[in-house]
Amino acid sequence: MPKYNFDEIIDRKGTNAIKVDALGERYGNPDLIPMWVADMDFKSPPCVEKAIIERAKHSIFGYTSPSQEYYSSIIKWVARQHNWQIEQEWLSFIPGIVKGIAFVTDCFTKPGDKVIIQPPVYHPFRIVPDMHQRVVVDNPLKLEAGQYMMDLDGLRQLIDPSCKMLILCNPHNPGGRVWTHQELSDIAEICYDNNILVISDEIHSDLAFDPNKHIPFASVSEKAAQNSITFMAPSKTFNIAGIISSFSVIPNKGLREKFHHFLEKSELESGHIFAYLVAETVYNYGDDWLAELKDYLWKNITFVDEYLKVNIPQIKAMLPQASFLIWLDCRQLNLSQTELNALFVEDAKLALNDGAMFGQGGEGFMRLNIGTPLSVVKKALDNLKKAIEQKQTQS
Ligand SMILES: Cc1ncc(COP(=O)(O)O)c(C=O)c1O
Repeated sequence: MPKYNFDEIIDRKGTNAIKVDALGERYGNPDLIPMWVADMDFKSPPCVEKAIIERAKHSIFGYTSPSQEYYSSIIKWVARQHNWQIEQEWLSFIPGIVKGIAFVTDCFTKPGDKVIIQPPVYHPFRIVPDMHQRVVVDNPLKLEAGQYMMDLDGLRQLIDPSCKMLILCNPHNPGGRVWTHQELSDIAEICYDNNILVISDEIHSDLAFDPNKHIPFASVSEKAAQNSITFMAPSKTFNIAGIISSFSVIPNKGLREKFHHFLEKSELESGHIFAYLVAETVYNYGDDWLAELKDYLWKNITFVDEYLKVNIPQIKAMLPQASFLIWLDCRQLNLSQTELNALFVEDAKLALNDGAMFGQGGEGFMRLNIGTPLSVVKKALDNLKKAIEQKQTQS
C-alpha cells in the first residue's frame, strides 16, 4: 500500500511559486498548465513540515552553524544512495548550484578562458560563464538511437590550452541520461591530461530509475577525484528548491582550500537554520518517500510514452534514466520553433520549456516536467492531442 499521496492536487497559486505565479509574465497567460520550471507539484516528505514547525515553535532564530548531524546525514546519504565514501572536510554548504557554478567560474578561471559544455544542456551552464566573460565552447551531445551520447572525439579535437573548465550535467538535464562508468572515466582522463577542471552538477542524481545507477563523477578514478568539484543538493529529490541547501564535495586538498577560501572571504559558505535542518531531516528520514516518488514518476513517464505512441506519434518521448523531465522530440511536426511554442502555449494551453533554450541541438524539442499528479499529465496530453488535431484539420 502506498504511504504517500502523489495524486493530490494542491493549488500553488499565490505562493510566489515561479512555476505557477510567473506564468502570466513569462508566457502571457496565467492559466496555462505549468510543466516547465524543474520543481514538482507534490508535498515534500511529511518529516520536512514536522521539522520546520517544531523548530519554528522555539521562536528564536539566531545565528546558526551546521551541526555534526548535518554533515553525517550527508555522508551517510551519499554512501547509501551512491556508494561513494566522502569525508566531512570535503563538504561545504553553497547557496545554490547555479551560484556554485558562478563561484567556480570566478575562482578557477579568468575572463577570456574557455569553458566547455555539452549541449543541449541546462541553460545556466552557458549563461553563467558567458556573463562572466568566459568563452563558452560547445561539445554537442550526439543523438544515437533516441538517447544522447557524449562526443569524446569531438571533445579531444576542440581542446586547446585556453580550455580551463568543463561543466558536466550528471545525470543529464534535459535528456535524462545517467552516464556510464566508461563515459565518466573517459571525460576524467581527457580533462585531467589537459588541465581542465571538471564541475560535476549532480543535482538530479538521487532520482535515477532502476536499473540505471547514478555514478558520482569523482568516484570513477583517481584522476576524476583529484580534478573535480561536485555539486549536490536535496532540492530536486525532495522538492525543496526554495529552501536552498546545496553543497559542494571536493576531495582534492588544493582545489578545496582554494574554493573554500573563495567562499569564506565573502561568507558564502554560511547556510541558514532551515537549510541545515531540512537537509539533515530528509537525508535521515526521506528514503521511503523517495522510493515511492520514483515509482510514481516512472508511472507518469511510461504513461506519457504510451500516450504519445498511440495518440501523437509525431512526438517522441526520450525516456529519462533519471528525474522528472521528459525531452520531447517534436521534429516530425515540421514546425518552426516559433510555431512549436505557439502550438503548446496558445493552442494546447501548456507551459513547457522551449528546447531551443538548452542550446545547440535543442531546436525541435520541448522539455516536459511530469513532477505533477497523473491526472494533470493526462489533461495536458489531451490538450496537446486536441491542439494538433485542430491544426491538422485547418491545414
Ligand atoms: C542540472 C541543474 N543544475 C542546477 C539546477 C538548479 O540548482 P540550484 O537551485 O541549486 O541553483 C537545476 C534546476 O533545474 C538543474 O536542473
